[in-house]
This record gives sequence, C-alpha cells and structure tokens, in this order.
Amino acid sequence: MKFLVTGSAGLIGNQIVHDLEKSEQTVYSCYNKMKPVFGIPTKLDLINLENIGKIIKQIHPDVVIHSAALTDVEKCDTDIELANILNVKATEVIASEAEKIDSHLMYISTDYVFDGKKGLYAETDLTNPLNNYGKTKLFGEKIIQNKNSNWSIIRTSTPFGLHSFKKTFPTWVYENLKNKKKINILEDQFTSPTYVPNLSKMIFEIISRNLEGFFHLSGSTKISRFEFAKMIATKFNLDSTLLNPVRIDTMDWKAIRPIDSSLDVSKVNSLLKIKPISIKQSLDEYSLQLTNSFSL
Ligand SMILES: NC(=O)c1ccc[n+]([C@@H]2O[C@H](COP(=O)([O-])OP(=O)(O)OC[C@H]3O[C@@H](n4cnc5c(N)ncnc54)[C@H](OP(=O)(O)O)[C@@H]3O)[C@@H](O)[C@H]2O)c1
Repeated sequence: MKFLVTGSAGLIGNQIVHDLEKSEQTVYSCYNKMKPVFGIPTKLDLINLENIGKIIKQIHPDVVIHSAALTDVEKCDTDIELANILNVKATEVIASEAEKIDSHLMYISTDYVFDGKKGLYAETDLTNPLNNYGKTKLFGEKIIQNKNSNWSIIRTSTPFGLHSFKKTFPTWVYENLKNKKKINILEDQFTSPTYVPNLSKMIFEIISRNLEGFFHLSGSTKISRFEFAKMIATKFNLDSTLLNPVRIDTMDWKAIRPIDSSLDVSKVNSLLKIKPISIKQSLDEYSLQLTNSFSL
C-alpha cells in the first residue's frame, strides 16, 4: 500500500513511518522544517494550502495519516491564527483531497479535546476542550467525521519514547535526576502516558484491518505526572527526593490544561490484537530502548 504521512519527523510520525517502512510499505514522509530519516522525504509546508492538493494528487496514496499539527499548547493560545491555519484549515484541505481520491484518512488527535473533569474518557464521551489547542484539534475531528470516504480518529495522551531531537517527559526527568537537579512535577494532573512504539503498532493494526471511527489509543494506566516521575526514578535507580511535587494552579500558563484527561482504552482492548500496555511495561521497554541507545 502507498502511504502519505504528515508530521513525519515528529515524535509520533517518525515512529509510524519507521514501522510502516519496516513492513515494506511505500511511505511518503511529509515534513516542513525537519527532514525525516525514514520514508521518502517530501517537503510540504501545511501553511501553503494550495500545495497540499498538488502533493496528494501527485502521490495518490491509499492511506493518509495526518499527524502534523501545531502541538505547542501555549503557542496555540497566543497565535490563534497560526493554530487555525495549521490545525483546522490544513486539515480541511487534506480531508477534501483524500476524499477525492477515496483514500483512508487517519487523523491523530488528543486527550485535550476533553475538559478533564471526569477522567478515563471513552470514545463516546462528550468533548469540551479548555484551550485553543484542544479546540482546534476538535475542529479537525469534526472535519474528518464529515468526510464521505473512510476515516479514523486516534486520540492519544502524553506520548513518550526516544526521539532524535524531541525530549519527552521521561527523558527530561531522567536527565535532570542523573545531573542531581531538583525538578518541580505536577502532582494533580493525570493522563494515560503512551509509549509511542506501542501506539504505532496499534495504529498499524487499525489500518491493516481497515477499521473506521474513533479509537482511544493510549497506555492502559492513568497516572499523575508526579507518580510517573517517581516510577522513572525507581526504574533508573535515581534519587526521587529531587522530585518536588507542585500543584497545577501554581503554573504560569496562559492555556488552561485539563486536570484529568486520561483515556478509557476498553474499546481497543477488546477489539485489537495489539493491546495498550501498562505504565510498568512501557517503562521497561523504554529503559531497554534508552540503554541500547547508550551502547550505540
Ligand atoms: N505531543 C503530545 O503531547 C500529543 C498528545 C496527544 C496527541 N498529539 C497529537 O499527535 C500528533 C503528533 O504529535 P507529535 O507529538 O508527534 O508532534 P510533534 O513532535 O510536535 O510534531 C509535529 C509535527 O508537525 C509538523 N508541522 C508543524 N508545522 C508544520 C507545517 N507548517 N507544515 C508541515 N508540517 C508541520 C512538524 O514538522 P516540521 O518539524 O517539519 O515542521 C512536526 O513533524 C499531533 O496531531 C498532536 O496533536 C500529541
């Protein structure tokens, strides 16, 4: 099959393209600033809306995975116009072009479409984003849902893993504790941390089986940032007393964050052969990945 993936050098896109290529698919890896290591690198600045149609027509993919977005939550609140172009307008054009050639469109969305008052959100729960990032991602979801050809929407939460230039939460905690630096960690924000290689495998199964609709693809454990950081300290034998618990209302953020945006993964747990993994298993695999990267 022929794939086109946007945001191919990003945290999630990079893993997806890597795994698709490994399974011998043809993958056009779209990027703007950072050239992807895997796939067939294809320059596509999503701000240039006219270009999107040209590239999709030229490549004529069977599947489009739209992973690119303005993911900086603060920037989405301070640069409303840019967030609107990248997360909404570009998604609109991608959806319309994918529909014209009848390709499956998978949209990578977020737990931030929820307000965080309830936690453990199922696919059928009501959305109510608190910040502009969540609002623009939800607009994106609505656009995809109105498409007449195949679509799937993946919502994930706190993705993490090793990446050549993006530092995810466990790596940040690990590096600081290793350097004996004290760090502030939120004790009252809960998510479902997602090990990106596990996410990518589930995504591949959804595409291979041509499944449609909404899927909550995250890790299977709801956990606070602080508890997560403590587990990282224990896993790597680092000093957990350097972790300083702080509360979300002390943060100097413009964009409001949901308190508990954890996801209920029951649907995919019963549907997929590849299951969402626990935080313990995720950290075991991440630690192996980290150790192997040191020995390279
Ligand atoms: N990170 C999270 O906490 C999180 C949580 C839940 C869901 N998600 C969703 O998952 C998806 C992937 O997230 P991620 O963590 O992999 O994001 P990421 O690492 O920040 O990557 C974002 C990607 O978007 C691309 N992009 C940004 N502006 C672009 C433009 N003008 N033209 C073309 N591409 C552009 C970037 O490409 P260049 O580098 O080439 O500019 C980059 O590859 C996003 O849709 C996000 O909303 C993320």
